[in-house]
Amino acid sequence: MQHFLAVSDHSSQELQDLLNLAIRLKKEYFAGGNQPLLKGKVLGMIFQKPSLRTRVSFDMAMRHLGGDALYLSPNEIGLGKRESIADVARVLSGYVHAMMARVFDHAHILELAQWSSVPVINGLSDYNHPCQAMADALTIQEKFGKGKKLNVTFVGDGNNVAVSLMHISAKLGWNFTIANPEDYDIRADAVALAKEIASETGSKLTFLRDPHAAVRGAHVIYTDTWTSMGQEEETAKREKVFPPYQVNAGLVSEADKDVIVMHCLPVHRSHELTDEVADGPHSVIFPQAHNRLHAQKAILARLFEVA
Ligand code: CP
Ligand code: NVA
Repeated sequence: MQHFLAVSDHSSQELQDLLNLAIRLKKEYFAGGNQPLLKGKVLGMIFQKPSLRTRVSFDMAMRHLGGDALYLSPNEIGLGKRESIADVARVLSGYVHAMMARVFDHAHILELAQWSSVPVINGLSDYNHPCQAMADALTIQEKFGKGKKLNVTFVGDGNNVAVSLMHISAKLGWNFTIANPEDYDIRADAVALAKEIASETGSKLTFLRDPHAAVRGAHVIYTDTWTSMGQEEETAKREKVFPPYQVNAGLVSEADKDVIVMHCLPVHRSHELTDEVADGPHSVIFPQAHNRLHAQKAILARLFEVA
């Protein structure tokens, strides 16, 4: 594994191996701590947008594995503004052993990877959020086990989180359904890629407008913010379109009785998710957030070729 930019870049087996490694590292951590596999290694973390989970879980993952992390704030390096992306990549490659970047434009993460001589991890772009998808898959497998034919349903905006969830579902052979309003479909190129993957793994992809039809038989209901970072000027318009897509107790009651409700967080309570569901018996949103730590340890260990 040279970089970690998209789950679709990796085979089903590679992804399952990463998930198995995450489970092993998680057990080891709770049984007394991880081995210092990354002693002396430093991860540079470039952020063009805010973050709680990605920033802290990567930092702590490095610390737990004996390494260190360096936070570079949006104002600090001015990726592509103060300095070209190619130059940032080549300079930083001489200082740190790997880099993680959260960017606006997906092309920027690809450019970083192209010019970097150390591994690059995508910590979210406007296109996808692959580290989130690994934590999501870990959470789903912990709940339902491996190799099950599950129905994963996303309700809301066809955004970056939806893209990565669709791709990992297809990779792992789960059926994936999305219900989203008109004009908020998942990007056509991401759908085409998912169809290619699904034709190999036998997963079924369904694209709907009706959230009620989408959650029928669902083992997982997933939702995310109606307005992603960088789309703030569209907030008022989106707040008018998305209310029928709220995940509330009524909608959850239409799914499988053992359904789990997921959200990448931060959650906008009373918007895409009600308090009753977020804090109710089906919700796994906090264990899901905590799994970022364990999934990313596996990604780091593989990129550094120490596990
Ligand atoms: N889910 C997620 O990536 O959260 P942050 O934006 O807080 O990193
Ligand atoms: N879709 C959201 C995810 C945040 C983790 C965003 O891009 O803002």
